[in-house]
Amino acid sequence: MDLRFQKSFNLKFPLVVAPMFLVSNVRMMQSAMDAGVMGVFPTLNYRAPELLADTLSKLNQHLQTGVTGSYGVNLIVQKTNIYKEKHLSVCAEHKVPFYITSLGDPAFVIEAARSYGGKVYCDVTNMKHADKCAALGCDGFIAVCSGAGGHAGPYPAHILVPALQKQFPEIPVLAAGGISNGKSVAAMMTLGAAGVSVGTRFIACDEAEVSDAYKEALVKARFYDIVMTDKLSGTPSSVIITPELVKAGLNQGPVGRYFNEHKFLRKYYKLYLQLRGISQLKDSMKTESKHKVWSAGQSVEFIDQVLPLQEIVDSIKLEYEKTLAEICSA
Ligand SMILES: Cc1cc2nc3c(=O)[nH]c(=O)nc-3n(C[C@H](O)[C@H](O)[C@H](O)COP(=O)(O)O)c2cc1C
Repeated sequence: MDLRFQKSFNLKFPLVVAPMFLVSNVRMMQSAMDAGVMGVFPTLNYRAPELLADTLSKLNQHLQTGVTGSYGVNLIVQKTNIYKEKHLSVCAEHKVPFYITSLGDPAFVIEAARSYGGKVYCDVTNMKHADKCAALGCDGFIAVCSGAGGHAGPYPAHILVPALQKQFPEIPVLAAGGISNGKSVAAMMTLGAAGVSVGTRFIACDEAEVSDAYKEALVKARFYDIVMTDKLSGTPSSVIITPELVKAGLNQGPVGRYFNEHKFLRKYYKLYLQLRGISQLKDSMKTESKHKVWSAGQSVEFIDQVLPLQEIVDSIKLEYEKTLAEICSA
């Protein structure tokens, strides 16, 4: 087994509670640390630099309480994220131990983290982006595979994970997408992953501050209830199918297609979609939501109850160990 990720952070189990826009919060990060795993949140959940600084101070204090887990931040490094430099400097000031970069060029994050020993893993969905991140000296990859919550990649984990591992044996790979139980973790570790990054499963935890209706929908949904929509951000992302979504339409109509064909207008239309998408996602977190835009990946198939975050981690770890023991004794 590749234990590089687990060992470099002294974790009890090589699992990342994945960063989730509008979902990840301080309680989830603290519970992840208590459970001996890595909790990561998107800096965009605390947009104002003072709020981000306050959150990081709380997490650093928690890190000093003898926990076996750790924490990190997710920086969207795309050009459209106007907060990325400011957020990075706040994170570097607080010596954040772990970064996950997504969408774009991570060079400036790698440079800043390296100055004090922070580690940077880059989200990758294909070999081309992996090549670029490897050349920049990233410390690891998150292989974002098909079936994932959020912006899923096009390739299945049993192809992308070993392909990355084969091409970049010196770089640890964490598998992401469709993982919510110990058997899947065992499968990923067997394929050569150094750990896993799990998002959707943790939306249905006690600490997540989303509506009960959202959590119930995660418990009820089957994998075939997950559909892709490009109306939330302009890029396809996965959501639970609901009558409200069907009524509004999952894909951009003729107006969207018209704007997308114009190089100049496309940028502004995408920005409009993103702002509207954020407002709908925010509304959908509330009990009395009219939108019901519930972001989730195909691992909903294996979510059967809402539990405290630590219990979820413990049950994944237990099933993982049982699976390995069964395989070894077969
Ligand atoms: C509600 C939701 C919000 C997400 N927000 C982000 C984000 O802000 N940044 C990011 O890099 N990935 C984001 N993701 C992707 C996760 O970090 C992770 O890669 C993915 O959830 C793993 O797949 P899984 O949901 O099947 O476990 C999000 C996923 C979900 C479900």
